[in-house]
Amino acid sequence: MAKKDLNGKAPASEPRKVSAQPHLHQRAAEIQPYGTVSHQLPLDLEEPVRLEMTEQLNLLLADTMTLRDLYKKSHWQVAGPTFYQLHLLFDKHYEEQSEIVDTIAERVQLLGGISIAMAADIAETTRIERPPRGREEVPVQISRLLDAHQIIIGHCRELAARANKLGDDGTNDLAVSDVLRTNELQVWFLSQHLVDEPLVRADETRLRNAS
Ligand SMILES: [Fe+2]
Repeated sequence: MAKKDLNGKAPASEPRKVSAQPHLHQRAAEIQPYGTVSHQLPLDLEEPVRLEMTEQLNLLLADTMTLRDLYKKSHWQVAGPTFYQLHLLFDKHYEEQSEIVDTIAERVQLLGGISIAMAADIAETTRIERPPRGREEVPVQISRLLDAHQIIIGHCRELAARANKLGDDGTNDLAVSDVLRTNELQVWFLSQHLVDEPLVRADETRLRNAS
């Protein structure tokens, strides 16, 4: 039988035993803690800049993931005469927010940071108000979504200006071209559903009052 060291592993000098058995239930220390950036990357961006940008991008990521999930909740739970169009619109916006999530997360990683990922961590970080688990009326659903967009858009403008000042052009471009533009467009599409227009009969009283 092969000799084993204190950890129960065969010494490195011995040939490795080949086995088809997967090594299950493994755990080990993290290779990089959250909130840090790896030291040397040839990006021509100083470590303090990458640290600040990754911190801000993670906030934006947590809010964007929350908005993405709020869209899916709305997609599933929507009710009423506008069900079909809103069901589709909410899912379209969900898909677009999902793409933004990936873009932000991968920028955090490429800057040497660690992107926030899991629901529990996102819930602790996001600034978007938690909705109830139950179903809400369409105007409330849309209002919640618009409030979430407003938080993201406000942060996006601040982040873009700061990134520009620090010389992080990539983060500036992401904040404006990917996040801000998409959020602005989605706000337009949503907010039009809160205009109190008659669905079937035109409001003739306004015509009479005008004459
Ligand atoms: Fe669906």
